[in-house]
Amino acid sequence: MHPVPPAGLAAHVAAPLRMEVLIGPPGSGKSTWCAEHRSERDLFNLDTYRLWLTGDATDQTRNPEAVAWQQRDLHAHLLAGRLAVIDATCTVAWQRAVHLETAARFGVRARAIVFRTPLHLCLQRNAAQDRVVPIDVIEGTWAETTMLTRAGLLAEGFADVIDVSPRGPAQP
Ligand SMILES: Nc1ncnc2c1ncn2[C@@H]1O[C@H](COP(=O)(O)OP(=O)(O)OP(=O)(O)O)[C@@H](O)[C@H]1O
Ligand SMILES: [Mg+2]
Repeated sequence: MHPVPPAGLAAHVAAPLRMEVLIGPPGSGKSTWCAEHRSERDLFNLDTYRLWLTGDATDQTRNPEAVAWQQRDLHAHLLAGRLAVIDATCTVAWQRAVHLETAARFGVRARAIVFRTPLHLCLQRNAAQDRVVPIDVIEGTWAETTMLTRAGLLAEGFADVIDVSPRGPAQP
């Protein structure tokens, strides 16, 4: 196992940046961005585990097992020294904290990638999906996303913050 970095800023700065946590409402384009910009083998999305467990990516009945399974794979991935990209909405602080805690445990730093897609586009894209997410869920998670600031995310523990907007995604 990678050693957990000793306390101190220098050690923290030296830790490799090997986790990316996507943040954004359904329909904001997270998975599409991942398909274009990241390796498929580095992606972690609970839909994958729900599909394996139940045969249906939307079936929430075995979520605890899906989460546990994803965590095991995530740990192995980080131990192997690979970048892990968490493709989930993560618009609530405790959801991000779970991943930041994992990053700290495995001695890596994390980047937040915030999808600042306008609400009307999220709703429009959602309406065109096979699996339509309730509008109030999109509105709620979109509002949570708009509240997020770079300073706030850095204060949570992210080492870097990138905004992705339909006009021009920043490319790390
Ligand atoms: N930049 C884009 N331009 C045009 N269409 C896009 C873009 N990004 C995503 N879409 C379309 O929007 C829809 C939703 O995108 P995507 O599945 O990537 O969203 P998501 O944020 O991963 O949503 P969820 O949280 O539900 O998984 C898809 O049909 C996709 O083709
Ligand atoms: Mg997605």
